[in-house]
Amino acid sequence: MASILILVGTESGNAQMVADALKPVLQGAGHAVGVSDAAASAADFLGNDVLLVICATHGSGDIPTNILPLAETLERERPDLSGHRYGIIALGDMTYQDTFCGGGKKLDEIFTRCGAARIGERLEVDASTQPLPDEEALAWIEGWKALV
Ligand SMILES: Cc1cc2nc3c(=O)[nH]c(=O)nc-3n(C[C@H](O)[C@H](O)[C@H](O)COP(=O)(O)O)c2cc1C
Repeated sequence: MASILILVGTESGNAQMVADALKPVLQGAGHAVGVSDAAASAADFLGNDVLLVICATHGSGDIPTNILPLAETLERERPDLSGHRYGIIALGDMTYQDTFCGGGKKLDEIFTRCGAARIGERLEVDASTQPLPDEEALAWIEGWKALV
C-alpha cells in the first residue's frame, strides 16, 4: 500500500473532476489517497510515497494559476526528488495545436529534472474529442495503479 497524493492544477474544474473520479479507484486498490490543489513547495508532498499530477493547460500552453507556485518553487529550488515516483495526466485541447497539454508537459519535465521517477506514460486528454476527461482517465488508471 502506498500513500498517494493527487496534485491538481485546474482553472475550470476538469482536473478536479478527474481527481475525484480516480481517488476511490486508488483507495479501492488499498492505497491511502489525498488530493491537493494548493501545494506550493516540496514540503507539501514529501510525506507521500507517490504523486499523481493532474494538470490542465491554460493561456497559451500555461500551467494553471493554482499550481503555478509549486512549479515555480520546484524550478527555483530544484529539490532532490530522486526517492519519489509520480504519474501525470495532462488535460488540453488539440485545437490549441503547438501548446497542446503544455501545462502537464511542463510539470512532467520539472518533476523529472528534480530527479523524480515517472510511473508509466503520460496520459494526454484532448477536450476536443473527449468531453468527459474522467472516462479516459478511469481507463488509464487501471494500468497505472498496477505499476505503483
Ligand atoms: C482560455 C483557455 C486557454 C486554453 N489553452 C490551452 C492550450 O494552450 N493548450 C491546450 O492543450 N489546452 C488549452 N485549453 C484547454 C484546457 O486545458 C482544457 O479545456 C482542460 O480540460 C481544462 O481543464 P480545467 O477545467 O481543469 O481547467 C485552454 C482552455 C481555455 C478555456
